[in-house]
Amino acid sequence: MSPEKAHYFVTGWLTFLAKIPGISALLAACYTTNDKRLERKLFGLTFKNPVGLAAGFDKDARWFNELANFGFGFIEIGTLTPKPQIGNPKPRLFRITEDEGLINRMGFNNLGAEDAVKRLKNRKTNIIIGGNIGKNTQTPNEEAMQDYLFNFNTLHDVVDYFVVNVSCPNIKDLTKLQDTPFLLELLGNLKTINAEKKHPKPILLKIAPDLNNSQLDEVIDIVKQTKIDGIIATNTTTARENLQTSPKQIAAIGNGGLSGKPLKQRSTEVIKYLAEKSGKAFPIIGVGGIHSAEDAMEKIAAGADLVQVYTGFIYEGPGLVKAINKKIVNSL
Ligand SMILES: Cc1cc2nc3c(=O)[nH]c(=O)nc-3n(C[C@H](O)[C@H](O)[C@H](O)COP(=O)(O)O)c2cc1C
Repeated sequence: MSPEKAHYFVTGWLTFLAKIPGISALLAACYTTNDKRLERKLFGLTFKNPVGLAAGFDKDARWFNELANFGFGFIEIGTLTPKPQIGNPKPRLFRITEDEGLINRMGFNNLGAEDAVKRLKNRKTNIIIGGNIGKNTQTPNEEAMQDYLFNFNTLHDVVDYFVVNVSCPNIKDLTKLQDTPFLLELLGNLKTINAEKKHPKPILLKIAPDLNNSQLDEVIDIVKQTKIDGIIATNTTTARENLQTSPKQIAAIGNGGLSGKPLKQRSTEVIKYLAEKSGKAFPIIGVGGIHSAEDAMEKIAAGADLVQVYTGFIYEGPGLVKAINKKIVNSL
């Protein structure tokens, strides 16, 4: 089965099973680690535990209620765009099993922010839900600001925190929006709008692992200047280094963002750099190549306050969340 079909097959089953009385409670009992010591208070929110599901898995906020049964402390929905869009032509998701990685060029396939609101209003879980926002592929970069502001206003009442995604390598020129002048303006505008809302929401920025140190220095400055609430490090990489998979196979797959084990080291380096260089001035959510409890501990040691998983969750299964939480408790 193609990886994308497998995704819908599994989530379809999950939704079906969750409708059977008692199944959700059973799953939650198997996978959840209830321990007060796992609780994390960050940017005004209380996370039941520090392990989250990264953006892209539940782009349209269709399964977060069911996914919450796997013991996550938080789930990030999106990336959502103002208008629905079908994304890039298929196939666009590839397993590179020898490296325990994935290459994707989904291209923000989603049903649009307004559609997601309907389901987010019907929230049954009490875990934290983040909203990851982007721009439509058709929107030129010069008009990108409007897309982000639209998403922010549309989702404001139904998510607990926001993530500004300017780091997806699969939307033409999106990563150019990581330039300082645009980010200062965008994040400044979001902060202003946020301050006028009855319940302001934390705003984080998600960055690419492909930024160099001077670009990371700029990111630190941006956080300081705009006073946003934190950074998510990192998105997928365009690099194809140190892979076991043959260059021929990699070339045949083509463009896309690489995630999973091959991303682990670079993502940890970025977290460490941001934490050390800033003097741990802001919260960091660490994501990239966490396939085991030890990998998560590495991210935390590097400076991550919370962690997220995506590819590791696919390869290792839902037991990964519990394994990480148990390891954290045992390390205390
Ligand atoms: C199929 C797929 C789709 C993704 N879609 C998004 C997305 O829409 N928005 C986003 O910010 N990150 C997206 N990501 C990136 C993940 O959230 C995460 O940052 C990255 O995969 C690194 O973590 P991992 O190695 O645990 O997968 C996606 C990743 C994958 C594999």
